[in-house]
Amino acid sequence: MNVARATLPPSQFQRLDREGFEKIHTVLAATELEKLYLDVRADLAERFPGFVKRMLRRALPLPERFFINANTVVRFMVPYEELHRGYAHFRKHLGKLDLHGPHHDYWQGVATNAINIWMALGRVLPGNGLALYPDLWGKTLPRGASHVRDDQHLGTPLVVSCEPGDVVFFHSHHMHSSILNHTDETRFVITGRFTVDEPRHPRQDPARQADYFDSERVGETTGAEALIPKTPLAVDASFPITSVTRRVRDVQSADELAALAEGEIAAHGPRHVAVRHEGRTHVLSRFCPHQGADLSLGRLTPDGMLVCPWHLHPFDVRTGVGACPMLRLDCGVPPRPTEDDTARDGGASGPPTPERP
Ligand code: FES
Ligand SMILES: [Fe+2]
Repeated sequence: MNVARATLPPSQFQRLDREGFEKIHTVLAATELEKLYLDVRADLAERFPGFVKRMLRRALPLPERFFINANTVVRFMVPYEELHRGYAHFRKHLGKLDLHGPHHDYWQGVATNAINIWMALGRVLPGNGLALYPDLWGKTLPRGASHVRDDQHLGTPLVVSCEPGDVVFFHSHHMHSSILNHTDETRFVITGRFTVDEPRHPRQDPARQADYFDSERVGETTGAEALIPKTPLAVDASFPITSVTRRVRDVQSADELAALAEGEIAAHGPRHVAVRHEGRTHVLSRFCPHQGADLSLGRLTPDGMLVCPWHLHPFDVRTGVGACPMLRLDCGVPPRPTEDDTARDGGASGPPTPERP
C-alpha cells in the first residue's frame, strides 16, 4: 500500500484503498499495473530477506543458520479477461503477472530442497489460487516446452485458497501451477523460499542456480556480501526423471460411447473427449482452448464440470462453456471419422498449437 500511495495519483490511490487490492484491475490499466508490480518488487527486494528471516525464526523451529532465496516474488493474478486484454504487458512476467503451468521450481534454478513461502496479501479464492499435485510427490516429471510434458497424468490437484495474512509453506519440488483466474478478483500474493540445509541442485551450473543468502549475515537490509558462494554447492547426484503417463481409453463406436461408465472420461479419436455424466455421454473438443492441455487427462466434478489438468479451468460438459465464458469447448457428437481423416491425422493425438494466453 505504501508503494501505491507513493507512486499512484491521489485519486487512483484513494479508489484502490476503497476498493481493495482484489479490485486493482478495475482501478489500474495493464500498463499501470505492470509498473506498480515492478515498483513493489523493487521496494521489497532490499527488505524482504530480513523480513523472511524474522518471520521464519518466529514461526518455525529452524537452526540458527539457514538459507534464504534472494528472489522476492510479487504476484498479481488478474481475472482472465483482463489478463487477455493486457497480455502484451503481463506475458513478460511468467508466474508473477501471467499464469504458470504445472512445473517443478528447480526448472527455474530454485534449489531442489527449497521450501516455498506463499503469503496471501489479499483474499485467495478457489477460482484464482494455487494448485498443488500431491499425487506426484517424490517424483520428478519430464519437462515439456514451457512446463510439464503434455502427456503427463497429474492426479487430483489440491486447491489452495486463503484469507488475507495466511501463509502457506510447501516444498518447491511439489508439482504446482497457477489456477486460471475465473473470479472477478485479483489474487495478490508475495512469495519467498528458503532451505534448511545448504541449497542443492541437480548439477553444478552456477549460471542456472538462484542466489541464496546466509541467514546469519542477513540484517535489516541485504547486500551481496550476505550471499553464499555458488561453488561448490551441494549437488543432487541422483535425480531420476519419472514419466507418469496414463493410457486413455479410446472409444469410437456409438455403442462404446453409450456404454461409458458413469463419470468416465475417454478419448474419442484424436480430437475429441467423451464424458459420461448423469446417464448421458457428452462429446467435446479434446484440447483446452487456453493452452491446449489434453482434457482426457482432466477430472469430472459431481456437478458435471470437466476440469482442465493444467490451470484447472472448469467446462460444463452439457454446453462446453467454461467458467470464464470466453473459453469454451466445441460440443456435440462429431461425424464418425472417415478413413481419409484417419490417414490425415496419422493417429496423432498431440494438442494443436494454441494461441496464448
Ligand atoms: S486451463 Fe490452461 S490449458 Fe486448460
Ligand atoms: Fe513455482
